[in-house]
Amino acid sequence: MEEFLQPEVNLAILNRPPPSCADALKELLGASHPCFDISVAGAEDLQDLPSRMRSALGLRAADGEVLYADVASLAGHFAHLTRAARVQIHLHKVLSDNCQFFHVDKVEARLLTTYAGLGTQWLRNQDVNRRALGRGKNSRIMLDGSEIQSVPTGAVAIMKGERWNSDGLVHRSPPMSRDSSARILLRIDLKR
Ligand SMILES: [Fe+2]
Repeated sequence: MEEFLQPEVNLAILNRPPPSCADALKELLGASHPCFDISVAGAEDLQDLPSRMRSALGLRAADGEVLYADVASLAGHFAHLTRAARVQIHLHKVLSDNCQFFHVDKVEARLLTTYAGLGTQWLRNQDVNRRALGRGKNSRIMLDGSEIQSVPTGAVAIMKGERWNSDGLVHRSPPMSRDSSARILLRIDLKR
């Protein structure tokens, strides 16, 4: 993961199966607007994170504790890796593909984990026409012969955004149809 700090690297993926909290995820998927959003500074705040998530989300599933511990652990690793003074942690249910156009996030760095549903899609640097970003046309952003990459469900992706002083990762939400299942997405942003 330390390689993430190299200037030519804008994505690190930790491949792993989703944590064992199927009941908690099912409960979140069944809830109308489950959302947890909090700014955290320092290791002490992170120690409190599971109990804050417990009261905010109010899950009945016993394996909710596995989810809370996973979020706290990922936030700790991300803050350590990026030397963040603060991190903003956001867990919610995604029902649409609002970020359907390839883009670079307006942050320094972001961690994404899709606990349920399809993972984030991204493009290799050599597959991107950066001049076409922000113009709403994926076909112009993707160079001929390029392939869309996907972060597996449960895997941890740490990506650089446009405020890092090198090219950020070009990515988007996975396209969703009427038949697509909702996603449970964790986002953790680096704050100074
Ligand atoms: Fe994004």
